[in-house]
Amino acid sequence: MAKMTLEEKVGQMVQHSGAEEITGTVVKDINYKIDRIKKGLVGSMLNVTSMKKIREFQELAVNHSRLGIPMIFAYDVIHGYKTMFPIPLGETASWDMNVLEAGARVAAKEASATGLHWTFAPMMDMMRDARWGRVMEGAGEDVFLNVKAAVARIKGFQGDDLSRTDTIAACAKHFAGYGFAEAGREYNTTEIGNVTLHNQVLPPFKAAVKAGVATFMNGFNELNGTPVTANKYLQRDLLKGEWNFDGLVVSDWGSIVELKNHGVAKDEVQAAELAVKAGSDMDMEGFSYELGLVDLVQSGRVEEALIDDACRRILKLKFQLGLFDDPFKYCDKEREKTEILSKENLAIARDAARKSIVLLKNENNLLPIKPDVKTIAVIGPFANDKNSPLGSWRAQAIPNSAVSLLEGIQNAVSENVEVLYAKGVDASRGIREFIYEIEVNKTDFSGIEAAVEIVEKADVVLLAIGEDCFESGEGRSKVDINLAAPQQALFDAIQAANKNTVVVLSNGRPMPITNLAENATTILETWHLGSESGNAIADVIFGKYNPSGKLPMSFPRHGGQCPIYYNRKNTGRPWNRGDVFWSHYTDELNTALYPFGFGLSYTTFEYNNLKLDKSTMNIGESLTVSVDVKNTGNVDGEEVVQLYIRDLVAIVTRPIKELKGFEKVLIKAGETKTVTFQLSNDELGFYDYNGKYVVESGDFKIFVGGNSEDLLEADFELS
Ligand code: NOJ
Repeated sequence: MAKMTLEEKVGQMVQHSGAEEITGTVVKDINYKIDRIKKGLVGSMLNVTSMKKIREFQELAVNHSRLGIPMIFAYDVIHGYKTMFPIPLGETASWDMNVLEAGARVAAKEASATGLHWTFAPMMDMMRDARWGRVMEGAGEDVFLNVKAAVARIKGFQGDDLSRTDTIAACAKHFAGYGFAEAGREYNTTEIGNVTLHNQVLPPFKAAVKAGVATFMNGFNELNGTPVTANKYLQRDLLKGEWNFDGLVVSDWGSIVELKNHGVAKDEVQAAELAVKAGSDMDMEGFSYELGLVDLVQSGRVEEALIDDACRRILKLKFQLGLFDDPFKYCDKEREKTEILSKENLAIARDAARKSIVLLKNENNLLPIKPDVKTIAVIGPFANDKNSPLGSWRAQAIPNSAVSLLEGIQNAVSENVEVLYAKGVDASRGIREFIYEIEVNKTDFSGIEAAVEIVEKADVVLLAIGEDCFESGEGRSKVDINLAAPQQALFDAIQAANKNTVVVLSNGRPMPITNLAENATTILETWHLGSESGNAIADVIFGKYNPSGKLPMSFPRHGGQCPIYYNRKNTGRPWNRGDVFWSHYTDELNTALYPFGFGLSYTTFEYNNLKLDKSTMNIGESLTVSVDVKNTGNVDGEEVVQLYIRDLVAIVTRPIKELKGFEKVLIKAGETKTVTFQLSNDELGFYDYNGKYVVESGDFKIFVGGNSEDLLEADFELS
């Protein structure tokens, strides 16, 4: 750094898009950027997606600039690079942290094999509103689960050595509060009270720092009146101060210049001043830093020490990645050939996909399909869709490369089984070019009759309905999260024609599928499962894999319930008083249609003997909770045993239930397993209004069960 000019140090704080892929507004053309790179005035690039291009850009930085400092290449590798994994919300439904870690590991291997160094993942925004399109990218509504998921994914991306060529830097995003977008509308204002901020929103980020995450991203949102990109409390006081984070903070795409739109900066220069003072180290495709920072320092408005601090953090990551030893070390053609879409990666993706499936209903044990079935009809707009399963944040997935449901079924059955197919209705009327916005089919019902004719001949029907993957993701918020009318009508007609219908639902958000819950025989929640989607669903449908997923987010009965989440507060009027004056809706129940943590299996589990090793425990000690879980069915199965607590009286209101432990266990048919949990200060305390962690004496309830509603209960006192 001693050799660097102020301009060069500021240059490190600039990140430009390679313009191959647009994930925001493009401001300048590529020649302008090339010129800056050659002058050593660009520290990092995003969205450069081929080894050839990465090499070309890196050569400009290394061979043409005065000091030859290599750039870091970043990309949104969210749920896979080319081998696609389930969308993060779906993958979290596995409740299996090894699955999450393995998925991120494969993504890191493939991304690094094309020369990439850094992913903008995992997203760890807490979320409660299914209208928000980005719920697909997160780990659901519970903070405990989010912490575990964040740590597992960071470990998967980064491994334990960033200098290895098959690991990449992870990014904890979006710091903070972005997932609380008002009314579920993307990029909207967030207002989060202190108690919720500290107990619900911040813990995954704090855990990410502890897990050694290399980078953070701030966000587009304002939080309680200050845009987070300009939020000094969050970035300097908390993250870099109290939590001691010594990695770098990148802005979101243009979020520095957007401080103008928020109305806290009058121009780009003031935006740069606010952002750098608040602790944003790198300006993603925003041009404020390169426009304003040098002058700001020279005029004395910004201390050079702030620039040095940011530059040091950025250079440090380059050293950690090994780029100063060899700027091209990740560009390894051999690895690119062997690593990407390898058989092994696809097998890991198939395993992740089948473990992410949630069985929501299975009347008369229609599933698994019996071996003597003669005719299977695969129906619906997603039945033979090879694109939507790839998901919304699909990085470099080859379009139309997923195994469709129809193909998965065909792969799985013998020649003696007849597989029929009809689309029924369209899910969409196509994607509007350039703006990637999908137009949902709400009016065209043609095709239903033809599909009905086919299902009348079938022993079993698989009906693939739901949402196209581009109905969720960034910029895809919705007011109407129902199944589109033509698909609803298709279901009604097919279910009436053949009761042996399995609804194979694919979606990026919880949906109020009340009609399906009431009238379908069987419902499988299959999200957007990635490259191996059809094979994974077939594994479950034919009983090769016994479903074990559990919902990471409540499914509402009605979109008007959003935001709905299990760990709600009690309110002063929780109970039905027999009049109208209690906390409820006059036209719908308060409860979820399918609660957080819910999911069935081909077997059944019975919970007994909930035991605590003491009824009074002193603060600082630990409490052992055990429960017997019996597999009461005929097949082996995995169960996610969940432990919740309730702190009955505290200085701030506490949720009616909070997840504080879970374990996924394989239990053989007829067998009983005792599952044990430990609770201590870490689980029993909470953050008070000032963000201070406190553990208070008093009465607690413990709940253990297979979802957040059907639970055994016990009491204890913390003294
Ligand atoms: C905007 C998104 O909010 C962020 O998550 C993403 O990483 C960047 N664009 C880069 O594409």
